Amino acid sequence: MKQLFASILSEHIEFLTVDEILNLIEQPKHYEQGDLSFPCFTLSKHLRKNPRVIAEELKDSIESTEIKFIQAVNGYLNVFFNPQEVGLDIVNDILLKRSSVGNQDIGQQQVVTMDISSPNIAKPFSMGHLRSTVIGNSMALIMEKLNYQPIKINHLGDWGTQFGKLIVAYQKWGSEEAVTQNPIPELFKLYVKFHDEAEHDETLNEAGRHAFLMLEQGEEKYIQLWKWFREVSLQSFNKLYQRLNITFDSYNGEAFYNDKMENVVELLKEKRLLVTDQGAEVVPLLEMPPALIKKNNGSTLYMTRDLATAIYRKENYNFSYSYYFVGNEQSLHFKQLMEVLKVMGYNWAKNMEHISFGMILKDGKKMSTRKGKVIFLEDVLNEAVVLAKKNIKEKSISLVNIDEVSEQVGIGAVIFNDLKHDRQNDIEFNLEEMLKPEGNTCLYLQYTNARIHAIIRKANIETDRLKVEKLDEEAWDIIKSLDTFDEVLVSAMERKSPAELAKYLLQLARHFNAYYARVRILDDQEMLENRIAILLAVSIIVEEGLRLLGIQTPREL
Ligand code: ARG
Repeated sequence: MKQLFASILSEHIEFLTVDEILNLIEQPKHYEQGDLSFPCFTLSKHLRKNPRVIAEELKDSIESTEIKFIQAVNGYLNVFFNPQEVGLDIVNDILLKRSSVGNQDIGQQQVVTMDISSPNIAKPFSMGHLRSTVIGNSMALIMEKLNYQPIKINHLGDWGTQFGKLIVAYQKWGSEEAVTQNPIPELFKLYVKFHDEAEHDETLNEAGRHAFLMLEQGEEKYIQLWKWFREVSLQSFNKLYQRLNITFDSYNGEAFYNDKMENVVELLKEKRLLVTDQGAEVVPLLEMPPALIKKNNGSTLYMTRDLATAIYRKENYNFSYSYYFVGNEQSLHFKQLMEVLKVMGYNWAKNMEHISFGMILKDGKKMSTRKGKVIFLEDVLNEAVVLAKKNIKEKSISLVNIDEVSEQVGIGAVIFNDLKHDRQNDIEFNLEEMLKPEGNTCLYLQYTNARIHAIIRKANIETDRLKVEKLDEEAWDIIKSLDTFDEVLVSAMERKSPAELAKYLLQLARHFNAYYARVRILDDQEMLENRIAILLAVSIIVEEGLRLLGIQTPREL
């Protein structure tokens, strides 16, 4: 509709291009102010004329069968479209495109590397890693839809002094069988035990440091152990990824850059950027603390690895953009990283972005420890699925694939609860709340979609070549909402905000349910096909929208 309005306006406006007009058009907050509104203030500067007068003049000169009514109010031109003229095209276009609706060639195949999830080996998968995973995955799906080429990289935390400690702990107290059966909890237990014991046994820390040194020097036995820790950890992470329905293009983590850091250090030296500070090597930066490149014992750091990583990604993937989905608490790290790359002369550093997010809270507290114990994501997901099943059972008695559906509902609830909030905010984790059938929940969307499909099944008509030929007046809010899907995707991409899409879907579902409450869909044979066509269009958008959030949608619930 914006396009249409802009092209109608452009016939009467000389000083602005269609695109400029398009950018000025607004979506009014209240429906009495029209379907769309054009503010005449910019024009008023060009024409040196009062905006009210311009609005009046435009109003009088515009004539179009697509417009039902047009008014000039305080320098705004408010337009009400003719639903029959405009609405049919919107719905029929969606029915024709099906799941390719919303596809747009904005990215032109540009490569975007995305650092997503990146948990630490041998440690529990934290809620922070969950946020990175679901936000990153959704952004990758949205960008792919807009014809970017996302490369999802899981930058595993698979190197560091903790592996020396873990090797010592495993050799002292570990059992192969226990670790194989239950890798993450067992390895984590060993790690915790190491720290407890090290408090009154100084030799342990020394042994840990020594083991890490041996590991770095390539001691075969230690390398084997490390590889095994990495492999079993990854296997159990992969179970989570499978349930969250995400795959990665690369699992190159920190260890991958072991042989690529010396080069970076050399480069920094060549460019005379390194300064020795209390025995450590640092890059001083303006307006922020210096970036630590080498510790005083010569070992490299998180920063050194990320420098090597950024350069490798540029060389290997030649990205147009490079995104890092990592929590707020690492903001300074990424600022420093980009700044060091800039002073190294890498112009492309300006195309890097830290896409940060807040914490997940439980009863207002950071959800990483409960009574001193770690929460395992697997348990959280299981709990969500159990509660989903209980809620579903209360409503639908005869669902044959209830386990499959409960999984989709439970996991969907966890993902959606995350994505519906603006990512910068901390979010509260409350399973009861996020599994409510009414409210701003995933289940609400899933029920809406299932309801639509139940009605379509009941109507028992062929939907393959369905078209709408006449519209109910009550459907207008739905149509307007359907019409903005493309725009919402672009805005979600530009602001790196899947929340825009999540909120949009809730609004669409609300419009649909209001329509459903007012119109007896199956009662009128004459309108039946037209109404089913609208329902189908809503379902296409809801299913595709949820897919872009990484969520599955059952058609029976
Ligand atoms: N493993 C890190 C952590 O858990 C996150 C890594 C993020 N990615 C990066 N390239 N630094 O804190």
